[in-house]
Amino acid sequence: MQEGIFPKNLTSPIGLCSDHAGYELKEYIIGILKAEGVTYNDFGTYSEASCDYPDFAHQLGAAIDNGECELGIAICGTGNGINMTLNKHQKVRSALCWKEDIALFAKSHNNANVITLPGRIVTHEEARRILKVFFQTEFEGGRHQKRIDKIPL
Ligand code: RB5
Repeated sequence: MQEGIFPKNLTSPIGLCSDHAGYELKEYIIGILKAEGVTYNDFGTYSEASCDYPDFAHQLGAAIDNGECELGIAICGTGNGINMTLNKHQKVRSALCWKEDIALFAKSHNNANVITLPGRIVTHEEARRILKVFFQTEFEGGRHQKRIDKIPL
């Protein structure tokens, strides 16, 4: 694995979104993105004031659908609500990842383009390790591509 978390050859900004329960972890991740010189679009939320995760998840989902962002990171308390919302978007394959092995297969088998983290469940160090696996694992293609092609309605 290469040093750092994020690949150096990304062709579009990484999209970010969270609700209030994911805000603190989103800010931590933004610190890593800045330190690594990776461009990102932060679709909010922008504070710990109580809010509704779909208001931000739909903005990231639209950015994936229209090609503005190729990859995204989404965070709410459990990860469930924001993940459910993102997956309503036709081009989004969002995977809720709470440990490294889930992230490994989310990318290698499902070619997930959004990683969702449960901000109230994982520590900063766990999030860092999960993100590293997700962003440094390659999609295997082959039989998995055939299955992914059957997902959109
Ligand atoms: C907010 O309290 C919490 O419900 C939300 O962050 C998320 O866990 C929903 O799925």
